[in-house]
Amino acid sequence: MLMRRLSPDSDPVDLAEAYAYPDTAGSPWVRANMVASADGAATWEGRSGGLGGEADRRLFSLLRGLADAVVVGAGTVRAESYGPARPDPGWEGLRAGRPATPALAIVSRTLDLDFGAPVFTEAGPGAATLVLTTETADPGRLRAAREHAEVITAGRDGLDFRAAFARLAELGRPRLLCEGGPLVLAQVAAAGILDELCLTVSPVLASGSAPRVLDGPSLPPPSRLRLAHVLEDADGEGFLFLRYVRKR
Ligand SMILES: NC(=O)c1ccc[n+]([C@@H]2O[C@H](COP(=O)([O-])OP(=O)(O)OC[C@H]3O[C@@H](n4cnc5c(N)ncnc54)[C@H](OP(=O)(O)O)[C@@H]3O)[C@@H](O)[C@H]2O)c1
Repeated sequence: MLMRRLSPDSDPVDLAEAYAYPDTAGSPWVRANMVASADGAATWEGRSGGLGGEADRRLFSLLRGLADAVVVGAGTVRAESYGPARPDPGWEGLRAGRPATPALAIVSRTLDLDFGAPVFTEAGPGAATLVLTTETADPGRLRAAREHAEVITAGRDGLDFRAAFARLAELGRPRLLCEGGPLVLAQVAAAGILDELCLTVSPVLASGSAPRVLDGPSLPPPSRLRLAHVLEDADGEGFLFLRYVRKR
């Protein structure tokens, strides 16, 4: 059996180049960025923060800087008290010709969202927060959502993720970054529209009953991925950054 050693390797990496979105001529490209413990947990005590580290936070920010919109489930918005994306000095040169920050696009069925929270009231210019919901959402909640956000409706029982993402691309936001959570990401993968998974493997063991980075029914059949790269943080924290692209 022949194997190659991928690490250690001393070559520094240009991260913006390593994670550049492909040119899709305006069609959506759906990248997910998730962190998991070495034993596969996507949360620790109900949040992902305990799994991350400095290098992981820097990559999280860089991937936001490259994206046109950040798609995130309402569960994560509530658990992690999400605010709007804030400009990062490290984004210099990444957002020429685009708003200073990517817009958040929150996936919700119930629209049980706090429209007075900073995630809606403090979004930057050209980056107003969007809400992605179903055509059957409660009319009163839908009216409230429309007063505070741009709303995209697609699908009846659950969000039609493919149609919603196509609409985001039509609105000039084809480079999508899905930050989970696991319930949303499982559905994006099940819809066959997850192009890329950026997975941070954190050097911790979590045990417990946390979900994995995808939390949904088995995919029929499993989605095949190509390993595009493996990076290790140079600070020696022991994080691995895997970039997988869907095999077509
Ligand atoms: N490891 C990581 O990288 C990572 C990343 C993100 C989050 N997390 C963790 O994951 C947890 C939250 O994730 P989660 O999986 O529970 O929730 P989630 O995926 O963030 O959000 C679930 C919510 O999204 C909405 N939703 C889901 N499917 C829908 C559909 N088909 N149509 C319309 N709306 C839909 C619903 O919102 P409504 O209830 O409003 O209807 C649902 O409650 C937190 O603990 C967070 O810290 C970990």
